[in-house]
Amino acid sequence: MAAAAGVAALGTTLALAPGASAATTLGASAAQTGRYFGAAVAANKLSDATYVGILNREFTMVTPENEMKWDATEPTQGQFTYANADRIVNHARANGMRVRGHALAWHSQQPGWAQNLSGTGLRSAMVNHVTQVATYYRGKIYAWDVVNEAFADGGTGARRDSNLQRTGNDWIEAAFRAARAADPTAKLCYNDYNTDGQNAKSNAVYAMVQDFKARGVPIDCVGFQSHFNSASPVPADYQANLQRFANLGVDVQITELDIEGSGSAQADNYGRVVRACLAVSRCTGITVWGIRDTDSWRASGNPLLFDGSGNKKPAYTATLDALNSGGPTTPPTTTPPTTTPPTATPPTTTPPPSTPPPGGSALEGGGEGPQGRGRQAPSVPLTVVKSGRAPAITKLEPAAPDVAAGHAETENACGADVRPEHAPADRGEAGTHLGVARSARSAEGIPAIHGGGGSQNGQLGAGASTTFGFQGTGVGPSATPTCSAS
Ligand code: XIL
Repeated sequence: MAAAAGVAALGTTLALAPGASAATTLGASAAQTGRYFGAAVAANKLSDATYVGILNREFTMVTPENEMKWDATEPTQGQFTYANADRIVNHARANGMRVRGHALAWHSQQPGWAQNLSGTGLRSAMVNHVTQVATYYRGKIYAWDVVNEAFADGGTGARRDSNLQRTGNDWIEAAFRAARAADPTAKLCYNDYNTDGQNAKSNAVYAMVQDFKARGVPIDCVGFQSHFNSASPVPADYQANLQRFANLGVDVQITELDIEGSGSAQADNYGRVVRACLAVSRCTGITVWGIRDTDSWRASGNPLLFDGSGNKKPAYTATLDALNSGGPTTPPTTTPPTTTPPTATPPTTTPPPSTPPPGGSALEGGGEGPQGRGRQAPSVPLTVVKSGRAPAITKLEPAAPDVAAGHAETENACGADVRPEHAPADRGEAGTHLGVARSARSAEGIPAIHGGGGSQNGQLGAGASTTFGFQGTGVGPSATPTCSAS
């Protein structure tokens, strides 16, 4: 099928209007600089109204806390269970949040059968696991933690000993290659802890990323877990460490932030972390590892932004203030995955029928958004995960750095300020065009194109892909648009 790039205009204004008030939620304030603010979420808490209320109000990214881990998704070899992970993914997508997938290959939380494997049996089981899970969620994941915690603590800079490591030193790149093949639209991250400052461990990760980039092993981002307490404080060189990784040509993300403590000391530390991310243009977002202190995996340290009753703590205020102080001037410079998504070959397994809802379609794009007035940004690949006529496109983000700056809200950003004026000839229906423009939604809610001449609603067939381009007319950051129809 055709996948020619089209060019479209993105008419956005990035500066907050004079007198405009600061954003009042973490997600909206992070979006002012094109970033996300996320939380780790547990499926069994989605029935807790207080929890869900905070989640939906404050956060724009979700990481399943345990539900995508190997023991959860493949408890028996070759038999995959996604019910709990799907609950989180579906909740996120239904509420305009994106998803960080966590984690495809890790020495911990392996199912018993994998713990008992070794050698080529384990290697092929790991690669199959990565392939199956990444394929199942293809098009729904902003970034995958492909490999988690593969380096040892201490001063050696060595790999962590594990059953996976004992399959051969190339197990990490095997996992990344499998993930890229399975989902070319997700950013692929290496994620670890005690790598937040410069030390032997982070130096070893740095060398691996440098080597991967030199050899073309697909890697797009590095996650810094950032679990802090008095024994492991926010490093003085935190920002510098994030920056040196960014300088390798990868995005950096703060992936599991929690800081034990209380009051102004804890608040100050949260503020420092946020300011460090905002000072690094390729730091694309921050995720806290839970919502309320009582939700935390280390609840005794009260390390999160909300107390057990769901009240905002001083740490929350410091975080929000730091995000707002960033203003719209230090956007991340997100780039899409380095390989070109396939244009014709659909994934080997079909996405779950439950998501998106029957009759809906999901359009996912990755690519660069606006970078300056009048500057054309690269094309954005779109993939239809499921065919069908969509009632409405509900979100395009983070196209939204610009959207949010002018409009405070990231929700329903799809088309609010993003108007692809013409899209490539694609697609499922001859002569139709695909795009997004809230203001131009048809009565049926079919994604509509602004401008470009003529009636240009359309849709893609299942598994089909296309691309479209944006042209920035603001002074905005680059971004990775993701458009979801539900
Ligand atoms: C933790 C979860 O929060 C706990 O619920 C679970 O019992 C253990 O794992 N680094 C990681 C996360 O990458 O997956 C871990 O999450 C915390 C440390």
